[in-house]
Amino acid sequence: MQYRKLGHTDMEVSVVCQGCWSIVGGFTWGEQDRRDSIAALRAAVDEGINFFDTAEGYGDGESEQLIAEALGDTRGDVVLASKVSPRNLRPDDLRAHCEQSLNRLRTEVIDLYQIHWPNPEIPLSETLGEMQRLKDAGKIRAIGVSNFGTDYLREAVELAGIESNQVSYSLLWRPIEHEIQPLCAEHDVSILCYSPICQGLLAGKFSSPDEVPPDRARTRHFSKDRPHSRHDEPGCEAETFEAIGRIEEISRSIGEPMADVSLAWLLTRPAVTSVIAGGRNAEQVRQNARAGELKLSESTVADLAEATDKLKQCFGTNADMWQTDSRMAP
Ligand SMILES: NC(=O)c1ccc[n+]([C@@H]2O[C@H](COP(=O)([O-])OP(=O)(O)OC[C@H]3O[C@@H](n4cnc5c(N)ncnc54)[C@H](OP(=O)(O)O)[C@@H]3O)[C@@H](O)[C@H]2O)c1
Repeated sequence: MQYRKLGHTDMEVSVVCQGCWSIVGGFTWGEQDRRDSIAALRAAVDEGINFFDTAEGYGDGESEQLIAEALGDTRGDVVLASKVSPRNLRPDDLRAHCEQSLNRLRTEVIDLYQIHWPNPEIPLSETLGEMQRLKDAGKIRAIGVSNFGTDYLREAVELAGIESNQVSYSLLWRPIEHEIQPLCAEHDVSILCYSPICQGLLAGKFSSPDEVPPDRARTRHFSKDRPHSRHDEPGCEAETFEAIGRIEEISRSIGEPMADVSLAWLLTRPAVTSVIAGGRNAEQVRQNARAGELKLSESTVADLAEATDKLKQCFGTNADMWQTDSRMAP
């Protein structure tokens, strides 16, 4: 496993971070066995993953509880990242919700506390002011944001010391490359890539759009006519599956699994510190950890970019994977 520095902090985090959303199952993910979730988290520690990403919103706090249970005495060896939901960004709410997350995680300090999504109804200055007070009080170690487009990110960087922006980024979802990624690079803000396997599409388990479960076919890759869709676009279904076919071919040519290749590619991109992979059992977690060792040649990196350029153009600069009219659209 490789490790990189998180933002301007002195925390060294594994390049593969364990994502802790799908381990609670439910909407988007379906049935999940709790024993698999605990085994997944312990396998992550065994594989040298020292970075865990959760949120108060994942399973209504269940994800944070699972982490506390699985990590037990090893908590001191890892970097815990959690997120506060956008409705809880007023200072009093933020303080109370941070305390609840600390209790569920059974820890004295959250290493990276992130704003899950911006909330246009609540001034960012108020939220970040309270975040700074939580940091001064030793309740959190570093401040991060998530799903921040360029306007919010510029404001956040001016107001506080921001260490990271957690955004959707994968070979099948590259809109941050237009404007958000250069801005993160300019300000030494770590990019933490979520949905790096594009919620399973890059593991090669679906060979056509109709095979994708409706709860996952909500993204802008798919037509607005799919159930649960929250956008009003025709989608890019043909381009998405054409790109998957090309990534599969390139992966086969170098003899590596497509999921590993997809994670390793992200780790070559500017400002990227870690990929947050949502393995939901020990086997998936072990495979994702192996991607932290995989080095791609320059020509493979370039071929993968070329293979997904057409798809990148389909989505424009709006980096929100689900909504057309978004807080992430410039
Ligand atoms: N900040 C945000 O707004 C935000 C949004 C989304 C996610 N996140 C964070 O990012 C993490 C990862 O994102 P994600 O869960 O959406 O997407 P992901 O990591 O791209 O995909 C997760 C899914 O991919 C499949 N998978 C994972 N590892 C695999 C492997 N080695 N082989 C085969 N299949 C594999 C599993 O699908 P099956 O269920 O089919 O096995 C799993 O449920 C989350 O856990 C969360 O921490 C943050």
